[in-house]
Amino acid sequence: MSEKTKENEAEATANGSPKPTSPNADLKHDFASFWNYSPAPESSDFVEIRKQYQHYIDGSFSVPAKKRYFKSINPATEEVLAEFAEGTSEDVDKAVKAARKAYDKVWSKLPARERGKYIYRIARMIQERARELAIIESMDGGKPIRESRDVDVPLAAAYFFYYAGWADKLDYAFPGRKAEPVGVCGQIIPWNFPLLMLAWKIAPALATGNTVVLKPAETTSLTALKFAEICMDAGLPAGVVNIVTGAGQTGAAIVDHPDINKIAFTGSTEVGKIIQKSLAGTDKKFTLELGGKGPNIIFEDASVDQAVEGIVNAIFFNQGHVCCAGSRLLVQEGIADKLIKKLKQRMETLIVGDPLDKNTDIGAINSKMQFNKINEYIEIGIKEGATIHQSNSSNLPDKGYFCKPTIFTGVAQSNRIVQEEIFGPVLTIQTFRTPEEAVEKANNTPYGLAGGIWTDKGSKIFKISQKLRSGVVWANTFNKFDPTSPFGGYKESGVGREGGLHGLYPYVNLK
Ligand code: NAI
Ligand code: MG
Repeated sequence: MSEKTKENEAEATANGSPKPTSPNADLKHDFASFWNYSPAPESSDFVEIRKQYQHYIDGSFSVPAKKRYFKSINPATEEVLAEFAEGTSEDVDKAVKAARKAYDKVWSKLPARERGKYIYRIARMIQERARELAIIESMDGGKPIRESRDVDVPLAAAYFFYYAGWADKLDYAFPGRKAEPVGVCGQIIPWNFPLLMLAWKIAPALATGNTVVLKPAETTSLTALKFAEICMDAGLPAGVVNIVTGAGQTGAAIVDHPDINKIAFTGSTEVGKIIQKSLAGTDKKFTLELGGKGPNIIFEDASVDQAVEGIVNAIFFNQGHVCCAGSRLLVQEGIADKLIKKLKQRMETLIVGDPLDKNTDIGAINSKMQFNKINEYIEIGIKEGATIHQSNSSNLPDKGYFCKPTIFTGVAQSNRIVQEEIFGPVLTIQTFRTPEEAVEKANNTPYGLAGGIWTDKGSKIFKISQKLRSGVVWANTFNKFDPTSPFGGYKESGVGREGGLHGLYPYVNLK
């Protein structure tokens, strides 16, 4: 008896019914009832969220010049969470002046060891307030509490600890050379990892003696303002960190400000290109961390179950709101059917819903705009002739922006869903026969941020990873981060590296 017949028979007996006929019927299995968890919501009772937030400039909260505010919502409930100040060029100018003054008078004069102490203190205070920060991150951005609690917040603290350590050791980072700070840094961050992206930007900047003006994304400003409270509680000198809230125009005002020495941006490739154009001909330094369309390559000799978990982690957790997501699966022909079947079964067990529930795997899509964009891409995929499969176990909540985990098979390399960043829980699946074909397909997009390789052979890992035009390659794992490791892209995925020793370079001038 073949493997397949055996499996079907076993299923038929288990269900007490004849072999299922519809293509997805066999997926329903018993999973729905097996995985019926009781609700386990994290309480948000003790979290204090004010109705209105101001900019944080020169060590205190400061009313915006034009007194205009915008609302931020909780994408899981569509309820207004708080109002944030809309930053104009006047506000940005005020923040840059405060940062310049703090740089000239205080921060650049402080002994490096003292700078380090402040950064250590900030790291510890993030740890102390970890639970509160995680809950706020999930309420404001829609990500599952499991992720904000286990990934975002601990990693944010880890980046501050790591760079605190470098503050008084820059002579060892750059032996024989003197590292001088660049001055005032303008930093613009996205909504997918709000506090963590703040840490990636602020920690190395402060460690090297710079001061900053940071703008969080308009849909997720709350943890940045909680961070402002931490800066105050830590006694950080006024003006060293300034936070101006607002949307694209506020970001553009930072980029265009003549007294800023360096721009660090993470976000869309589209905006990255606009910023690069604005900076052309100026002497501002810059780093850009942009989009991705990461290949996740599964070889026949990989452990299939482990790979399925890796795929789920690479694209479905955090709603696929990850620039380094493994959004393109490349699977070797011999195991394709088996792997896709197991993946579909695993998709049935993924819980889509309340971000504050500890069992939730896939939370809310960050904003209505992003929700619409993902749905447009799903339409595009169908129109391009690809075969769609979505999980059918989880009922989506009535309110809020939720998207079922989605896979597309029967796609061509030239399809838009294969080439363009969707930034949602949507995976395209292609097959390949030889390692050469895998590399060819993996490299054939405008991006080059991250990728994954799954194989039993160490030699294959080294051989293939060297051929991938990709800033990061994970082997038999995915989406693993560590402050000591540099991160950044090739091609249209960006310029420069963040994290590790490499992450210090953009913030210093070497003499
Ligand atoms: P975006 O690139 O517009 O936003 C990122 C940040 O840049 C936000 O703080 C935003 O206010 C700011 N910004 C927008 N326009 C600006 C300008 N002209 N000058 C300076 N700053 C500006 O990204 P958006 O619109 O939120 O998302 C669109 C797509 O971008 C997503 O669907 C996704 O594909 C991609 N994206 C990639 C991210 C990554 O980590 N690489 C993060 C967020 C989005
Ligand atoms: Mg929000």
